[in-house]
Amino acid sequence: MESHLSAALEYARSFLHEGAVATYIPELAKGDPTQLGAAIYAADGEIYRVGDWQQEFTIQSISKTITLILALQLAGYRKVFSKVGVEPTGDPFNSIVRLETTAPRPLNPMINAGAIATASCCMGGRDAFSEFLKLTRRLCGRSSISLNEEVYRSEKQAGMRNRSMAYLMQSDNLLECDAEDALDLYFRMCSVNVNTMDLARYGMVLAGNGKDPETGEQLVEGWIVRIVKTLMVTCGLYDASGEFAMKVGIPAKSGVGGGIMGSVERKMGVAAFSPGLDAKGNSVGAFHMLEYLSHHLGLHYFAGSECRV
Ligand code: DON
Repeated sequence: MESHLSAALEYARSFLHEGAVATYIPELAKGDPTQLGAAIYAADGEIYRVGDWQQEFTIQSISKTITLILALQLAGYRKVFSKVGVEPTGDPFNSIVRLETTAPRPLNPMINAGAIATASCCMGGRDAFSEFLKLTRRLCGRSSISLNEEVYRSEKQAGMRNRSMAYLMQSDNLLECDAEDALDLYFRMCSVNVNTMDLARYGMVLAGNGKDPETGEQLVEGWIVRIVKTLMVTCGLYDASGEFAMKVGIPAKSGVGGGIMGSVERKMGVAAFSPGLDAKGNSVGAFHMLEYLSHHLGLHYFAGSECRV
């Protein structure tokens, strides 16, 4: 395993020049595009790490999976899926166009509009961000996980596109709270600092049908895990979800902080990180690390067949 991880690092490193750090959130522009790392949390409890695995970065859109878990736990299936659909868009993650041309309800919870609507379902008079942080810490197995205040402020100040979507959705009665409150929660959720080890462990919780890999405690109900992993397959890498499914074949979720979290059914959680992004907002280094590992460890969901990509 160690030698595969080192080889994956070298393979991915040769593509790093193709990426560029996100700049639309000014604080993210400070990321170092030469950083690259990964971690695996295996079902037997073994842990493997390589490169900048310990570097903290903001969770960004990977939070959308945890927001969905929390919303389903707090508000239930009917409420959540009355606000958001389950179909892939083929559009960029921050696209606003479908809210007008397809239907007022965002197409899925993995795009920005869908995550803002999903976040609004978590409010209900409680301190929703505390609940989110508590859940994130349990899924990742690290109690020191916390908010990156600088990124949060930067997002809140620069997030005009998200603001437009939220107000449009509020005008269609799709939010469970005021647009600014839903946005504030969404920006906080995106701005939590994690590392690849945290995300690999979270991936293992999903791979183990919601059970804590150390204690065996059921952290997330099985029906919710199934919904989240399904949406990771169909929408986890936005308009690159098809390409990722073909080349990597692991339920996964990306974020503009440079992370990708993957969950290999019953076998492992795997996460990779590198701040340089491709044109669709997915980490170039992390994508290639996962591609290499999938090929060499046979992780594709249809691993029995020959691989030609
Ligand atoms: O709202 C935003 O644009 C960011 N906070 C999250 C976007 C994101 O991570 C998309 N991922 N590839």
